[in-house]
Amino acid sequence: MTPVTDHSFSIVVAMDGNRGIGIQNQLAWHLPEDMAFFKRITTDGSVNGQQNAVVMGRATFESIPDAFRPLPNRRNIVLTRNPAYQVPDAVVTAASLDSALAWAVQHRCPHIFIIGGAQAYNTALQYPACHKLFITEIDDLFDCDAFFPDFGTRFHRVSDSEWAVSKTGLRYRFTEWIRST
Ligand SMILES: NC(=O)c1ccc[n+]([C@@H]2O[C@H](COP(=O)([O-])OP(=O)(O)OC[C@H]3O[C@@H](n4cnc5c(N)ncnc54)[C@H](OP(=O)(O)O)[C@@H]3O)[C@@H](O)[C@H]2O)c1
Repeated sequence: MTPVTDHSFSIVVAMDGNRGIGIQNQLAWHLPEDMAFFKRITTDGSVNGQQNAVVMGRATFESIPDAFRPLPNRRNIVLTRNPAYQVPDAVVTAASLDSALAWAVQHRCPHIFIIGGAQAYNTALQYPACHKLFITEIDDLFDCDAFFPDFGTRFHRVSDSEWAVSKTGLRYRFTEWIRST
């Protein structure tokens, strides 16, 4: 991947056949292969020791168990409009996606990833600088209350892996999409 030279950024998401992404502020499935993919794609590509940025909504940040947050070896940026919101020292808060992106660029994060949830994705998709989607497609339907927005024809698929079967039994594949318009 090309390092970020402006505010360009990517989205990383796993979704089911209805674009469902979670329920009751949790993922609706257990897919360890996708967790490993997520970790690799968001961590790799550091340049001169600079870490990538992962930008997430406050609800998604709270959905990560204490033991796993902040996500290691990445600059964690939490979107919240609450100026009093408390986060651990290593975590940054931002009141808007603009200010999260500006912080990441100012701190020379080589790559910027928006990692959810639905509200954060919805904002991010409006930006022309949102140039790439990493979508893990899960070949099943789950009871969800959070959904990835319908991104219509704004992106086109540039690659997909073969369908694979998880050790949990789910069928899934990794796809990549680039902005068309
Ligand atoms: N399948 C996946 O790949 C995936 C990935 C991540 C999350 N998820 C799922 O998504 C669900 C959570 O999504 P969600 O939509 O409820 O919550 P969310 O987007 O994670 O967080 C929403 C909160 O983030 C803040 N926020 C969001 N956009 C903002 C913006 N543009 N500017 C400033 N603040 C902003 C606000 O916080 P304040 O209220 O504090 O102002 C808002 O209430 C969970 O079920 C989670 O498991 C799934």
